[in-house]
Amino acid sequence: MKIAIMGSGGDAPGMNPAIKRFVEFCFEVGDEPYFIYGGLEGLIDGKIQKASYEDVAGIIHRGGAIIGSSRSKRWYEKRYRDQAYENLQKNGIEAIVVLGGDGSFRALDIFKKEHDVNFIGIPTTIDNDIYGTSLCLGVDTALNTIRDAIDRIRDTASTFSRAFVIETMGRECGYLAAVSAITCGAEVCVIPEVEFNIDVATQILRKELERGRTYLIAIVAEGTKRTAEIAKWCEETLGMETRVTVLGHIQRGGNPTVQDRLLGFGYVVEAIEALHRGEERRVVVYNDGVFSTLPIDDVVQKNYRIPEEILSLLNFID
Ligand code: F6P
Repeated sequence: MKIAIMGSGGDAPGMNPAIKRFVEFCFEVGDEPYFIYGGLEGLIDGKIQKASYEDVAGIIHRGGAIIGSSRSKRWYEKRYRDQAYENLQKNGIEAIVVLGGDGSFRALDIFKKEHDVNFIGIPTTIDNDIYGTSLCLGVDTALNTIRDAIDRIRDTASTFSRAFVIETMGRECGYLAAVSAITCGAEVCVIPEVEFNIDVATQILRKELERGRTYLIAIVAEGTKRTAEIAKWCEETLGMETRVTVLGHIQRGGNPTVQDRLLGFGYVVEAIEALHRGEERRVVVYNDGVFSTLPIDDVVQKNYRIPEEILSLLNFID
Protein backbone atom coordinates (compact mmCIF):
# COMPACT_ATOMS: atom_id res chain seq x y z
CA MET A 1 0.00 0.00 0.00
CA LYS A 2 1.20 3.56 -0.68
CA ILE A 3 0.62 5.44 2.56
CA ALA A 4 1.39 9.12 3.21
CA ILE A 5 1.91 10.75 6.60
CA MET A 6 1.21 14.40 7.29
CA GLY A 7 1.02 16.86 10.18
CA SER A 8 -1.90 19.23 10.55
CA GLY A 9 -2.56 22.02 13.04
CA GLY A 10 -0.37 22.77 16.05
CA ASP A 11 2.76 20.65 16.17
CA ALA A 12 3.70 18.64 19.25
CA PRO A 13 6.88 16.92 20.46
CA GLY A 14 6.81 13.26 19.48
CA MET A 15 5.88 13.84 15.85
CA ASN A 16 9.42 13.11 14.65
CA PRO A 17 9.70 9.76 16.48
CA ALA A 18 6.27 8.90 15.01
CA ILE A 19 7.43 9.88 11.50
CA LYS A 20 10.60 7.83 11.89
CA ARG A 21 8.68 4.75 13.02
CA PHE A 22 6.16 5.31 10.22
CA VAL A 23 8.87 4.96 7.59
CA GLU A 24 10.54 2.00 9.28
CA PHE A 25 7.29 0.11 9.89
CA CYS A 26 6.04 0.70 6.35
CA PHE A 27 9.22 -0.92 5.01
CA GLU A 28 8.92 -3.77 7.54
CA VAL A 29 5.42 -4.68 6.37
CA GLY A 30 5.93 -4.01 2.66
CA ASP A 31 4.19 -0.64 2.32
CA GLU A 32 5.54 2.41 0.49
CA PRO A 33 5.87 5.44 2.78
CA TYR A 34 5.29 8.99 1.51
CA PHE A 35 5.56 12.40 3.17
CA ILE A 36 3.13 15.26 2.65
CA TYR A 37 5.14 18.36 3.54
CA GLY A 38 3.47 21.41 5.09
CA GLY A 39 0.16 19.88 6.19
CA LEU A 40 -3.06 20.56 4.26
CA GLU A 41 -1.45 23.55 2.55
CA GLY A 42 1.30 21.28 1.24
CA LEU A 43 -1.25 18.69 0.12
CA ILE A 44 -3.04 21.37 -1.91
CA ASP A 45 0.27 22.47 -3.43
CA GLY A 46 1.41 18.93 -4.22
CA LYS A 47 4.33 18.80 -1.79
CA ILE A 48 4.37 15.01 -1.70
CA GLN A 49 7.52 12.89 -1.73
CA LYS A 50 8.46 9.28 -1.35
CA ALA A 51 10.17 8.74 2.03
CA SER A 52 13.41 6.89 2.67
CA TYR A 53 15.39 5.71 5.70
CA GLU A 54 17.81 8.58 5.10
CA ASP A 55 15.00 11.11 5.58
CA VAL A 56 14.38 9.93 9.12
CA ALA A 57 17.95 9.35 10.28
CA GLY A 58 18.88 11.45 13.30
CA ILE A 59 15.44 12.94 13.96
CA ILE A 60 14.25 10.89 16.93
CA HIS A 61 15.32 13.48 19.51
CA ARG A 62 14.01 16.55 17.70
CA GLY A 63 10.87 18.47 18.60
CA GLY A 64 8.60 19.83 15.86
CA ALA A 65 8.08 17.81 12.70
CA ILE A 66 10.48 17.45 9.78
CA ILE A 67 7.46 17.27 7.45
CA GLY A 68 6.01 20.55 8.73
CA SER A 69 2.40 21.40 9.49
CA SER A 70 -0.12 24.17 8.83
CA ARG A 71 -3.61 25.44 9.48
CA SER A 72 -5.31 25.86 6.11
CA LYS A 73 -8.12 28.19 5.16
CA ARG A 74 -7.93 27.17 1.51
CA TRP A 75 -8.89 23.59 2.46
CA TYR A 76 -12.46 24.74 3.07
CA GLU A 77 -12.87 25.66 -0.61
CA LYS A 78 -13.75 22.63 -2.72
CA ARG A 79 -11.53 23.58 -5.67
CA TYR A 80 -8.45 23.26 -3.42
CA ARG A 81 -9.58 19.87 -2.12
CA ASP A 82 -10.02 18.75 -5.72
CA GLN A 83 -6.48 19.93 -6.41
CA ALA A 84 -5.25 17.99 -3.37
CA TYR A 85 -7.02 14.88 -4.66
CA GLU A 86 -5.30 15.19 -8.03
CA ASN A 87 -1.94 15.45 -6.26
CA LEU A 88 -2.61 12.24 -4.36
CA GLN A 89 -3.77 10.48 -7.53
CA LYS A 90 -0.59 11.50 -9.35
CA ASN A 91 1.45 9.79 -6.62
CA GLY A 92 -0.88 6.80 -6.27
CA ILE A 93 -1.43 7.41 -2.54
CA GLU A 94 -4.11 5.11 -1.13
CA ALA A 95 -4.35 6.28 2.45
CA ILE A 96 -3.19 9.07 4.77
CA VAL A 97 -2.02 8.95 8.38
CA VAL A 98 -2.64 12.37 9.91
CA LEU A 99 -0.93 13.66 13.03
CA GLY A 100 -3.28 16.33 14.35
CA GLY A 101 -6.24 17.30 16.48
CA ASP A 102 -9.96 16.91 15.98
CA GLY A 103 -10.11 19.88 13.57
CA SER A 104 -7.65 18.05 11.33
CA PHE A 105 -9.63 14.80 11.57
CA ARG A 106 -12.77 16.69 10.54
CA ALA A 107 -10.90 18.29 7.64
CA LEU A 108 -9.82 14.90 6.30
CA ASP A 109 -13.26 13.45 6.86
CA ILE A 110 -14.73 15.99 4.43
CA PHE A 111 -12.13 14.76 1.95
CA LYS A 112 -12.93 11.10 2.57
CA LYS A 113 -16.63 11.70 1.97
CA GLU A 114 -15.93 13.71 -1.18
CA HIS A 115 -13.07 11.78 -2.80
CA ASP A 116 -12.99 8.50 -0.88
CA VAL A 117 -9.41 8.91 0.33
CA ASN A 118 -9.12 6.86 3.50
CA PHE A 119 -7.30 8.19 6.55
CA ILE A 120 -6.41 7.25 10.11
CA GLY A 121 -5.90 9.98 12.72
CA ILE A 122 -3.30 10.08 15.47
CA PRO A 123 -4.22 12.44 18.35
CA THR A 124 -1.34 14.89 18.32
CA THR A 125 -1.66 17.99 20.44
CA ILE A 126 -0.21 19.28 23.67
CA ASP A 127 -3.75 20.30 24.71
CA ASN A 128 -4.87 16.72 25.52
CA ASP A 129 -8.37 17.63 24.46
CA ILE A 130 -9.28 14.71 22.20
CA TYR A 131 -12.11 12.39 23.18
CA GLY A 132 -11.35 8.70 23.66
CA THR A 133 -7.62 8.76 24.34
CA SER A 134 -5.96 9.16 27.72
CA LEU A 135 -2.82 10.82 26.38
CA CYS A 136 -2.28 12.65 23.11
CA LEU A 137 1.14 12.72 21.49
CA GLY A 138 3.17 15.66 22.84
CA VAL A 139 1.41 16.12 26.17
CA ASP A 140 4.06 14.47 28.31
CA THR A 141 6.86 16.62 26.87
CA ALA A 142 4.76 19.77 27.29
CA LEU A 143 4.04 18.85 30.93
CA ASN A 144 7.73 18.36 31.58
CA THR A 145 8.56 21.68 29.92
CA ILE A 146 5.97 23.40 32.10
CA ARG A 147 7.31 21.61 35.20
CA ASP A 148 10.80 22.82 34.42
CA ALA A 149 9.55 26.40 33.93
CA ILE A 150 7.51 26.41 37.14
CA ASP A 151 10.39 24.95 39.17
CA ARG A 152 12.57 27.78 37.91
CA ILE A 153 9.94 30.42 38.58
CA ARG A 154 9.53 29.05 42.11
CA ASP A 155 13.23 29.79 42.75
CA THR A 156 12.81 33.47 42.02
CA ALA A 157 9.29 33.69 43.52
CA SER A 158 10.51 32.33 46.85
CA THR A 159 13.65 34.47 46.86
CA PHE A 160 11.70 37.66 46.10
CA SER A 161 8.53 36.84 48.08
CA ARG A 162 6.31 37.36 45.08
CA ALA A 163 3.18 35.89 43.59
CA PHE A 164 3.57 34.45 40.10
CA VAL A 165 0.65 33.89 37.80
CA ILE A 166 1.67 31.39 35.13
CA GLU A 167 -0.49 30.93 32.06
CA THR A 168 -0.43 27.57 30.29
CA MET A 169 -1.70 26.65 26.82
CA GLY A 170 -4.49 24.16 26.15
CA ARG A 171 -7.21 26.10 24.31
CA GLU A 172 -10.53 25.28 26.05
CA CYS A 173 -9.00 22.37 27.95
CA GLY A 174 -7.47 22.76 31.41
CA TYR A 175 -5.53 19.47 31.40
CA LEU A 176 -2.05 21.00 31.17
CA ALA A 177 -2.84 23.53 33.89
CA ALA A 178 -4.45 20.99 36.22
CA VAL A 179 -1.72 18.35 35.98
CA SER A 180 0.99 21.01 36.25
CA ALA A 181 -0.61 22.61 39.30
CA ILE A 182 -0.86 19.24 41.04
CA THR A 183 2.65 18.06 40.19
CA CYS A 184 4.38 21.40 40.78
CA GLY A 185 2.64 22.18 44.06
CA ALA A 186 0.86 25.36 42.92
CA GLU A 187 -1.40 27.05 45.45
CA VAL A 188 -3.95 28.16 42.87
CA CYS A 189 -5.22 26.56 39.67
CA VAL A 190 -7.82 28.13 37.41
CA ILE A 191 -9.19 25.98 34.58
CA PRO A 192 -12.32 26.15 32.42
CA GLU A 193 -13.69 22.84 33.78
CA VAL A 194 -13.91 23.84 37.47
CA GLU A 195 -15.41 26.93 39.03
CA PHE A 196 -12.73 28.87 40.86
CA ASN A 197 -14.15 30.11 44.16
CA ILE A 198 -12.21 33.31 44.59
CA ASP A 199 -13.74 34.14 47.99
CA VAL A 200 -12.76 30.82 49.52
CA ALA A 201 -9.31 31.07 47.93
CA THR A 202 -8.93 34.57 49.41
CA GLN A 203 -9.82 33.34 52.92
CA ILE A 204 -7.44 30.37 52.74
CA LEU A 205 -4.54 32.32 51.30
CA ARG A 206 -4.95 35.29 53.66
CA LYS A 207 -4.69 32.89 56.59
CA GLU A 208 -1.61 31.27 55.04
CA LEU A 209 -0.02 34.68 54.46
CA GLU A 210 -0.69 35.61 58.09
CA ARG A 211 0.96 32.37 59.18
CA GLY A 212 4.07 33.20 57.17
CA ARG A 213 3.53 32.22 53.52
CA THR A 214 5.95 34.35 51.53
CA TYR A 215 5.25 33.45 47.91
CA LEU A 216 2.54 32.04 45.71
CA ILE A 217 2.27 30.11 42.45
CA ALA A 218 -1.01 30.37 40.52
CA ILE A 219 -1.49 28.35 37.32
CA VAL A 220 -4.12 29.69 34.94
CA ALA A 221 -5.27 27.85 31.80
CA GLU A 222 -5.37 30.13 28.75
CA GLY A 223 -8.93 28.98 28.02
CA THR A 224 -10.24 30.79 31.12
CA LYS A 225 -8.97 34.17 29.87
CA ARG A 226 -8.53 35.09 33.54
CA THR A 227 -4.77 35.59 33.76
CA ALA A 228 -4.93 39.38 34.17
CA GLU A 229 -7.81 39.13 36.65
CA ILE A 230 -5.97 36.59 38.83
CA ALA A 231 -2.83 38.74 38.76
CA LYS A 232 -4.87 41.76 39.89
CA TRP A 233 -6.41 39.66 42.67
CA CYS A 234 -2.95 38.56 43.90
CA GLU A 235 -1.71 42.15 43.85
CA GLU A 236 -4.73 44.00 45.21
CA THR A 237 -6.72 41.53 47.32
CA LEU A 238 -3.87 39.38 48.64
CA GLY A 239 -1.47 42.33 48.72
CA MET A 240 1.42 40.50 47.08
CA GLU A 241 3.88 41.91 44.58
CA THR A 242 2.93 39.95 41.45
CA ARG A 243 4.44 38.96 38.13
CA VAL A 244 2.82 37.22 35.18
CA THR A 245 4.54 34.63 32.99
CA VAL A 246 2.79 33.47 29.84
CA LEU A 247 4.62 30.27 28.92
CA GLY A 248 3.44 30.39 25.31
CA HIS A 249 5.01 28.39 22.52
CA ILE A 250 7.94 27.04 24.54
CA GLN A 251 5.33 24.45 25.60
CA ARG A 252 5.14 23.18 22.03
CA GLY A 253 8.86 22.67 21.47
CA GLY A 254 11.74 20.70 22.88
CA ASN A 255 13.04 17.20 22.52
CA PRO A 256 10.37 14.57 23.09
CA THR A 257 10.37 12.66 26.37
CA VAL A 258 10.81 8.88 26.46
CA GLN A 259 7.03 8.61 26.97
CA ASP A 260 6.32 10.66 23.84
CA ARG A 261 8.80 8.68 21.76
CA LEU A 262 7.17 5.40 22.80
CA LEU A 263 3.70 6.86 22.23
CA GLY A 264 4.74 8.06 18.77
CA PHE A 265 5.93 4.56 17.86
CA GLY A 266 2.81 2.88 19.23
CA TYR A 267 0.33 5.28 17.67
CA VAL A 268 1.89 4.95 14.23
CA VAL A 269 2.14 1.15 14.26
CA GLU A 270 -1.52 0.89 15.27
CA ALA A 271 -2.48 3.32 12.49
CA ILE A 272 -0.75 1.26 9.81
CA GLU A 273 -2.13 -1.98 11.21
CA ALA A 274 -5.63 -0.46 11.19
CA LEU A 275 -5.21 0.36 7.49
CA HIS A 276 -4.15 -3.25 6.86
CA ARG A 277 -7.26 -4.46 8.68
CA GLY A 278 -9.26 -2.38 6.20
CA GLU A 279 -10.46 0.16 8.77
CA GLU A 280 -11.69 3.51 7.48
CA ARG A 281 -12.28 6.92 9.07
CA ARG A 282 -10.83 5.97 12.45
CA VAL A 283 -8.61 7.53 15.08
CA VAL A 284 -6.00 5.65 17.11
CA VAL A 285 -6.53 5.91 20.85
CA TYR A 286 -4.38 4.93 23.83
CA ASN A 287 -5.90 3.72 27.08
CA ASP A 288 -4.45 1.62 29.94
CA GLY A 289 -1.32 0.93 27.94
CA VAL A 290 -3.21 -0.39 24.91
CA PHE A 291 -3.58 1.14 21.43
CA SER A 292 -6.83 0.64 19.53
CA THR A 293 -9.04 2.69 17.19
CA LEU A 294 -12.35 4.52 17.45
CA PRO A 295 -14.66 5.75 14.68
CA ILE A 296 -13.98 9.36 13.75
CA ASP A 297 -17.59 10.31 14.54
CA ASP A 298 -17.18 9.28 18.17
CA VAL A 299 -13.94 11.19 18.53
CA VAL A 300 -15.04 14.47 16.96
CA GLN A 301 -18.58 14.57 18.30
CA LYS A 302 -17.85 13.86 21.95
CA ASN A 303 -15.95 16.12 24.32
CA TYR A 304 -12.85 15.13 26.21
CA ARG A 305 -13.24 15.32 29.98
CA ILE A 306 -10.38 15.56 32.45
CA PRO A 307 -10.50 12.36 34.56
CA GLU A 308 -12.11 12.73 38.00
CA GLU A 309 -9.01 11.34 39.72
CA ILE A 310 -7.08 14.37 38.43
CA LEU A 311 -9.80 16.91 39.22
CA SER A 312 -10.18 15.51 42.75
CA LEU A 313 -6.55 16.35 43.46
CA LEU A 314 -7.34 19.99 42.73
CA ASN A 315 -9.66 20.37 45.71
CA PHE A 316 -7.20 22.68 47.43
CA ILE A 317 -8.68 25.53 45.41
CA ASP A 318 -12.30 25.33 46.49
O1 F6P B 1 -3.53 23.48 19.94
C1 F6P B 1 -2.20 23.71 20.32
C2 F6P B 1 -1.99 25.14 20.70
O2 F6P B 1 -0.63 25.28 21.08
C3 F6P B 1 -2.91 25.68 21.78
O3 F6P B 1 -2.55 25.28 23.07
C4 F6P B 1 -2.79 27.16 21.54
O4 F6P B 1 -3.92 27.87 22.00
C5 F6P B 1 -2.67 27.25 20.04
O5 F6P B 1 -2.21 25.99 19.60
C6 F6P B 1 -1.74 28.31 19.55
O6 F6P B 1 -1.83 28.34 18.18
P1 F6P B 1 -0.77 29.09 17.25
O7 F6P B 1 0.48 28.26 17.25
O8 F6P B 1 -1.44 29.13 15.92
O9 F6P B 1 -0.53 30.43 17.86
